[in-house]
Amino acid sequence: MKTDDKRLKIMSMLIECENLSKSYQSRAVLNGISLSIPAGKRIALMGPSGSGKSTLLNCLGGVDRFDTGSILIGGVRLEDADADTLSRLRRKTVGTVFQFFHLLPTLSVWENIAFPLLLNGVSSDTARQKAFELAERVQLGARAHAFPDQLSGGEMQRCAIARALASSPQILLADEPTGNLDSVTGETILDLLDTLTREANITLVMVTHSEAATRICDEVLHLLDGRLLENSSRS
Ligand SMILES: Nc1ncnc2c1ncn2[C@@H]1O[C@H](COP(=O)(O)OP(=O)(O)OP(=O)(O)O)[C@@H](O)[C@H]1O
Ligand SMILES: [Mg+2]
Repeated sequence: MKTDDKRLKIMSMLIECENLSKSYQSRAVLNGISLSIPAGKRIALMGPSGSGKSTLLNCLGGVDRFDTGSILIGGVRLEDADADTLSRLRRKTVGTVFQFFHLLPTLSVWENIAFPLLLNGVSSDTARQKAFELAERVQLGARAHAFPDQLSGGEMQRCAIARALASSPQILLADEPTGNLDSVTGETILDLLDTLTREANITLVMVTHSEAATRICDEVLHLLDGRLLENSSRS
């Protein structure tokens, strides 16, 4: 590929990761990861426990720092970004559903959903209204005043999805959104993710252990010992 063509291809990617590596206490966890994801694409990330899936997702979302390599996401080059830029990226461009939800325990369902909107300077009335709308969308309207410790796993997961989507992000990073749920609840969550990401043309990177969950994705990437396997795409 000519240099100009290559540059054009990179510019058209919403997520571009090149030769990414990260170690913990000199143990390599990510080992030269390169991937390109265009806007609107939905990617499943699979691999054994400990293979680096959450670490990769957290690096892409600007939550974890990495040692070497480069990530361009939503127009931000992460290795050059300062703390303010990273926090703006996380508040506006990238929504994250964490593996263990990370709901704020002292806030109710609707307050958890409204929280990122308030951080973005949305007025409290508008944030409240949008939070209740989103709670309805994820079928938590009747539980909007409940607190996280009063919710089932599936309800917590739906609350975390609503919160991640509150600021209308271009990109959704979801870490095992159906992990620890029974298969019927997992299917409901998947249908919800499918509908919500399709409607707003959101680019999705979803970590999953479930082959069935990949049905909502265009492509499956396999990670093993911090490396992406060759030819792991299915499309
Ligand atoms: N803060 C940390 N300090 C040291 N090692 C860590 C830390 N976080 C993760 N690791 C290690 O990095 C490796 C990758 O962890 P990661 O959480 O990315 O795995 P994963 O693929 O998401 O696994 P799982 O499917 O169990 O969630 C693991 O061996 C883990 O023990
Ligand atoms: Mg994980």
